[in-house]
Amino acid sequence: MRPVDGLYAPASRITAGRPNPFGMPLGQIRRVASVGPRDGDDDVDETKRNILKMVAVAGLVAAGAGGLAGGALQYIQPPTVGISAYPKVQLIDVDGSPLTVAKVESEYNVESNQDVFFYYPLLNEPNFLLNLYPASGSPNSGQTNGAENVPYGIGTHSSIVAYSGICQHLGCPIPAISFYPPGTCPQTPGGKTFYIHCSCHGSTYDVANKASNLTGPAVIPLPQVLLETDTAGNIYAYGMTPGSAPVNGHLNTLQGDYGVGSTSQLTKQTPIILCNIA
Ligand code: FES
Repeated sequence: MRPVDGLYAPASRITAGRPNPFGMPLGQIRRVASVGPRDGDDDVDETKRNILKMVAVAGLVAAGAGGLAGGALQYIQPPTVGISAYPKVQLIDVDGSPLTVAKVESEYNVESNQDVFFYYPLLNEPNFLLNLYPASGSPNSGQTNGAENVPYGIGTHSSIVAYSGICQHLGCPIPAISFYPPGTCPQTPGGKTFYIHCSCHGSTYDVANKASNLTGPAVIPLPQVLLETDTAGNIYAYGMTPGSAPVNGHLNTLQGDYGVGSTSQLTKQTPIILCNIA
């Protein structure tokens, strides 16, 4: 120890020979200027602890704010609903019994003046169920009274098919888009006497050929549902044909609503008939 102004002070990095830069008593200067923990340096450690606490609290507040923001964003933008693959769905008749080929062939035919449809694969995707075979018997040579051996058709005559019930132009659904039995309108687009017609803007689709476009403005065929049967003749939907575009209004036919589940029941509806065919 060396005498400073008549006093003995402990050794320090700031000595009496240098000017006191802080203008404070040497004891306090030494403690503030310390860079490492020392015995009795509680003020320094406390300061550092307080800073660390402030940083930690700020981090927690920021994380909490981020979580709240994320939660609010999730609420504003609900998660996308949908399914990951086409399910196998059993079709149920309007009376609640399993739909069979025998029932379709006895109850529905190309002359049936009603829209028969079911939802698949999502709850907001209706599809026509059609039996294009005429009740009177085999189709005539011009197939103006019905059709058989239709692409992806099932049943005795491969005449039972299913197509999307949402128009591929601007998305008008059943019954604005409806099946027209032979002779419903004087017009015969593409020489066809029966077809699906959309009353919104006049598009027509060839039900005997993959719902291809007969008249516009639609330029994309209706998506076609794949059907199959089991040994008892029960009917199932299990996918869409390989060339099918997504259902109108859906970026992906599997996304945009919940799946229908393991069964889907038929609905019957009176068609809207409007012969505004271009
Ligand atoms: S929505 Fe069907 S023709 Fe326009």
